[in-house]
Amino acid sequence: MASDMTAPILDALSSADGPILSTEAFPSTPSLTIKAALDRLASRQMVEYTTFDREVIALTEEGESVVANGSHEAKVFEAVVAAMDGLKIGDLPGIVGKDNAKIGQGNAFKRGWIKKDKDVLRANTDSIRDETREQLQIIKDTHTHPDSKVITDLKKRKLATPTKVIHFKISKGPKYAREFVKEETDLTAEMLANGSWKTAHLKPYNFKAKGAPTPSGALHPLNKVRQEFRNIFFEMGFEEMPTNRFVETGFWNFDALFVPQQHPARDLQDTFYIADPEKADPPREDPPNDPHVPKPSSQLTSSKTTEKPLDYKEYWENVRAVHENGKYGSIGYRYPWSADESLRLVLRTHTTSVSTYMLHKLAANPRPARYFSIDRVFRNEAVDATHLAEFHQIEGVIADFGLALGGLIGFMEVFFAKMGIHRLRFKPAYNPYTEPSMEIFGYHDGLKKWVEIGNSGMFRPEMLEPMGIPKDMRVYGWGLSLERPTMIKYGVSNIRELLGHKVDLNFVATNPAVRLEKE
Ligand code: PHE
Repeated sequence: MASDMTAPILDALSSADGPILSTEAFPSTPSLTIKAALDRLASRQMVEYTTFDREVIALTEEGESVVANGSHEAKVFEAVVAAMDGLKIGDLPGIVGKDNAKIGQGNAFKRGWIKKDKDVLRANTDSIRDETREQLQIIKDTHTHPDSKVITDLKKRKLATPTKVIHFKISKGPKYAREFVKEETDLTAEMLANGSWKTAHLKPYNFKAKGAPTPSGALHPLNKVRQEFRNIFFEMGFEEMPTNRFVETGFWNFDALFVPQQHPARDLQDTFYIADPEKADPPREDPPNDPHVPKPSSQLTSSKTTEKPLDYKEYWENVRAVHENGKYGSIGYRYPWSADESLRLVLRTHTTSVSTYMLHKLAANPRPARYFSIDRVFRNEAVDATHLAEFHQIEGVIADFGLALGGLIGFMEVFFAKMGIHRLRFKPAYNPYTEPSMEIFGYHDGLKKWVEIGNSGMFRPEMLEPMGIPKDMRVYGWGLSLERPTMIKYGVSNIRELLGHKVDLNFVATNPAVRLEKE
């Protein structure tokens, strides 16, 4: 830090009758250093000051060198005198330098210090007065020269130049004192113990100061948007499904959903299979008190005694039958269904496996139910700006008697309006487990275009009846990614900026809390 000027300023004021000028009191101190001290003093009302700038004359680098070493003409004169018996003109640049020789020769002639004898220079006088150097010295000391012609001349020779200096007119403030007492910023135990607090100068509290940033954790945008969606679901009477099984059997992920075993989604290119163990046990009764076993909500369980869901063996056989030869009025796929394929372990490709599991539980006591989940799913995808091998799926199911497609469309309108999407379009689509199936498009006001926001449908009897859901019960289902709305809401165009090792922690720490334009 530059030297502290508080003490010199207070000293200078004490010996002066009135205000002092910084250029006079501290000619060689940089104005920034003076200002720093003045601000400290002024904040305690010890001084008052006004700032102004003034144009002064200062030396150029060359001017400084003349003050130090003499003018060009003086150097030429000295060289000529030193040569004793005249100096050949051609030798001059070699002795005094090119610039000195050129400028100095002319000036030395003009002043009558030297004369020319053919091509030899000789001194005309014994001694000279180096006026240029004297004039520059005056400017160096006083930032000006009384003779304006001199200034013009030196400016022309580029030895002096006008510059602006900031300076201060300083006077005593109402709380002026000779000494600047350091202010205490903290009241310490020591000060209390030794009594020095009584006389200490405590720095006044600055209520306008910005506090130090509080270190804290931050929720990832995906978590924030997830919470928003959870709230929407809870507002609409949904119950959250337990999604703690990332690894599922082919049975729960595909077969129970009436996805045929030859379906391309089951290819290695699309699904991650677990190598070890390669196979699961056949579905069986859940062990009692297993914390991993999803439990139907106590809230929504009717007061009737809960019956057991359909026996797994029977369910399993029903699934086999509906795939192989058809059942429940369906002709099935007519292919030999493989139990081994159904027992292969996969990283779940959708959370519809969880919905299926929960619907199977619901079948024990069929009643209107609304379930949702938001959790991770895995797909063997080529990673690019909008795809990762894992993402989060938002999934909802509604089970009730007498539901129809219009109800699903109507529900979607209410559901998406809650997140600020008011214009929807539905496009017929295909899922093995829903009929009819619809892709959902929403008009995005910000992006000014239609974006695909979800997939939906009514679960097929081939999926519901094998698990024991009664014939007159209908189930809506839909799914969407959590990443898509999060990217749109937070203006992220590359999914890798949202998830994975390229995420900027600053982005996580500083993004706003809630971004859904909820109704
Ligand atoms: N499982 C579907 C998907 O992965 C979403 C969906 C769920 C569709 C339920 C219809 C019914 O996109």
